[in-house]
Amino acid sequence: MSNLNTVIVLAAGLGKRMHSATPKVLHPICGEPMLGHVLNTAQLLKPTQIITVLGHGKERVTNYLKSEFKKVKIVEQKQQKGTGHAVQIALTQLNNLKGLVLVMAGDTPLLSSTSLKALVAAAAESKAAVLTAELPDPTGYGRIIRLANMVDRIVEQTDASDEELEITEINTGVYVFDAEILKKAITQISSDNKQGEIYLTDVIEVINTLGESVTAVICEDYTEALGINDRSQLAMSQQIMQQRINEYWMSKGVSMRNPDSVVIDMGVSLTSDIFIDNNTHLLGKTSIDTGSIIGPDSMLKDCLVGKNSHVMRTTATNAKIGNNCEIGPYTYLRPGTVLKDGVKAGAYVEIKNSTVGEGSKVPHLSYVGDATIGIETNIGAATVFVNYDGETKHKTVVGDHVKIGSDTMLVAPVKIGDGAYTAAGSVITENVPAGALGVERTKQRNIEGWVERKRGKSKSASAARRTRAKKPKK
Ligand code: UD1
Ligand code: CA
Repeated sequence: MSNLNTVIVLAAGLGKRMHSATPKVLHPICGEPMLGHVLNTAQLLKPTQIITVLGHGKERVTNYLKSEFKKVKIVEQKQQKGTGHAVQIALTQLNNLKGLVLVMAGDTPLLSSTSLKALVAAAAESKAAVLTAELPDPTGYGRIIRLANMVDRIVEQTDASDEELEITEINTGVYVFDAEILKKAITQISSDNKQGEIYLTDVIEVINTLGESVTAVICEDYTEALGINDRSQLAMSQQIMQQRINEYWMSKGVSMRNPDSVVIDMGVSLTSDIFIDNNTHLLGKTSIDTGSIIGPDSMLKDCLVGKNSHVMRTTATNAKIGNNCEIGPYTYLRPGTVLKDGVKAGAYVEIKNSTVGEGSKVPHLSYVGDATIGIETNIGAATVFVNYDGETKHKTVVGDHVKIGSDTMLVAPVKIGDGAYTAAGSVITENVPAGALGVERTKQRNIEGWVERKRGKSKSASAARRTRAKKPKK
């Protein structure tokens, strides 16, 4: 690639049409802020430097850049007087600028590096090049006015004549300039237009009047050009990017029953031979290994899933699921959950900040919090790890090959030794030694004939009477 020196990303605008307290460029698409997509693409061009122009919501955007794009320079445009003004401000910070300068906006996240590279290549032949696209509906975009094969000027929607509005070739807002011509032309634009803004688009006409010509490169896939000014365009871009991500993973051997119902964030990593069933969201930095089946109806955020596991109708955040696990339906795995290989976590089970050992099972209706469970242990239905005394959380340790009876309350802090049992319905407040049975309940008492005496007219009493009449008295 020829000499790309600087990328300027314009991101100072208010984003008024979003009606949001969040700066427009921080609105996420497929798990990453719009601006993140733009900067990732810009980095693929390997420029010497990238500079972003910030204004509205500068603090928040700066914090984001400082954590995710440390090398990106920031310049502030205090008053947003237009895209041309933004570039003027950027140039005041770029002394001795030489070579090629690419200018793009923070609100066009679908652009591919392939298109940008083609634009940089085209700029080698003239002093400037504009990336354009043929849109089925060009409304709202600047229109490309051609002169022979070159670009004569760009006219904004609000300033265009009826005839110019018929033009379907639009300005994507990406340009490559020779630094010298940009520095010269940028001083010769004004705010003499319907919006009273200093338009960057006006430099195209200036460059022509300076006796140079401007090339156009048309995007092969027009969807790349879609800019985001409102929520509806945000949703549209999300949909297009999601489709690209899903297509990518399918090309790598991931099956999806209905790709339109599958959400996969940018940061997710998958391998071949994974099956993703309907209505499944894989978010954040989730990673899934081969042979696993996820869904239907599952939402995994920042989770790791091993090989050959099945995770259905599950909500999980920050959880690690091993190989050959069976999770769901209706399972809730919260941060700090570690399920080793071969674990089962079944229906209406919630697990938080706990490690469940290899081959252990929590099959039904249980809460496991702040616990360590050994290997091949069974936690009976409706067991609760009572971890909170109203002030502090306490730990429970359950050993290997333990059988926790149904409806056991394990009141933490408490330890259940290897091979121990607890009797169903027990409230366990003291440690149970290895191999012992922990029982905590009163002996059952049956009051004979109580129903016939106290509820004599009820159906229960008649049923009891019939049964007792059949039985010969001993
Ligand atoms: C702009 C182009 C239009 C093009 C469209 C493509 C101009 C005048 N128009 O229109 O030809 O078809 O993009 O999406 O350039 N910004 C600043 N400072 C400002 C004003 C804007 O940094 O003072 C930033 C915005 O944050 C945004 C970008 O520049 O990221 C584009 O501004 P926006 O107002 O969205 O321009 P459009 O009306 O979309
Ligand atoms: Ca825009």
